[in-house]
Amino acid sequence: DERKTGVKGLVDSGISKIPEFFVHHQEISLKASDQAVPCDLQVPVIDLQSIDKDEASYKQIVQEVLEASVSWGVFQVVNHGVVKDELENVIEKVKEFHEGNKEVKEKLYNRDQSNKVRFLSNLSHLQSGAATWRDTLVCVFDGTLDPTQIPLVCRETIMKYKEGISRVVEILYELLSVALGLPPDYMKARNYDYTKPMFMHYYPPCPEPELTIGVRMHTDPTFITVLLQDDLGGLQVLHDGYLVDVTPVPGALVVNIGDLLKCFSNDKLKSTEHHVLASKRGPRISVATCITPALDSEKPFGPLKLLLSDENPPLHQEFLIPDYVKTYLSKEPNNSVLSYYKI
Ligand code: SIN
Ligand code: FE2
Repeated sequence: DERKTGVKGLVDSGISKIPEFFVHHQEISLKASDQAVPCDLQVPVIDLQSIDKDEASYKQIVQEVLEASVSWGVFQVVNHGVVKDELENVIEKVKEFHEGNKEVKEKLYNRDQSNKVRFLSNLSHLQSGAATWRDTLVCVFDGTLDPTQIPLVCRETIMKYKEGISRVVEILYELLSVALGLPPDYMKARNYDYTKPMFMHYYPPCPEPELTIGVRMHTDPTFITVLLQDDLGGLQVLHDGYLVDVTPVPGALVVNIGDLLKCFSNDKLKSTEHHVLASKRGPRISVATCITPALDSEKPFGPLKLLLSDENPPLHQEFLIPDYVKTYLSKEPNNSVLSYYKI
């Protein structure tokens, strides 16, 4: 079955036109302005270098995180603790997996959600609409994942990267907690980084990029998402009606506020719509680590009571995370389900 080797397998077979099931008839820039993006519109880049220097520097960084999360819902961080060499190595190893042994990919190609390590391709095609121009290796780090399930080429690198990201998430949770006026350890103490599906994307070069898309427009269904991208670009966020490039910055990680943090903050923080363009240039590699609350929690989740008042009434009903996940998986891919819980 040729599909099991993904979009890359298709490209390798030598095509000059893309198959019809990849054509997105009304995807790109539907909601975006036709006008050129004003050059001062740039996704904020926040330098964490002086986080421990003194109180003034710390406050300044918290302020930058707050402003970026309120107005953009996305920002990049540099000097976050995971060094550039390690990030480059992650990209290299993920690339090696996707360009490596076909049988390994075929074995991991399946749609059974209970498998912790899977190779995905052409997914949207089977659910609805057109397929997307990318292949993905996903690892769900939920505490039961056996590392030996991870393909050998990238196993050690991914495990180490996961630890590095956990440390970055601790810092981000502290900054976001303080930014929301909460005690520094508030989010960490509530275990909001319990489960981490990690998506390792490979976007092959595309002969007709204007007809298809790498990832359709969506907001993330996460608390936050930490994204590593290579230097090719292609990720765009919808901001003030403009499609703004998330320009690759060496050594940076992109942080997206997801729908669950938006809900938790009673919409003070924004979750931004974004997509990834297909391109003639490639392959492009990216790694998205999803940070979510415990997915099996029986505790109601909703706008944080501490933040609510007569002037700031809840905008969302409480819900159970397992119900949220179930709804998310059963609906159109890429549609936000947060609107189902709107008050
Ligand atoms: C995503 O948002 O799902 C992927 C982002 C990327 O590959 O840059
Ligand atoms: Fe995303």
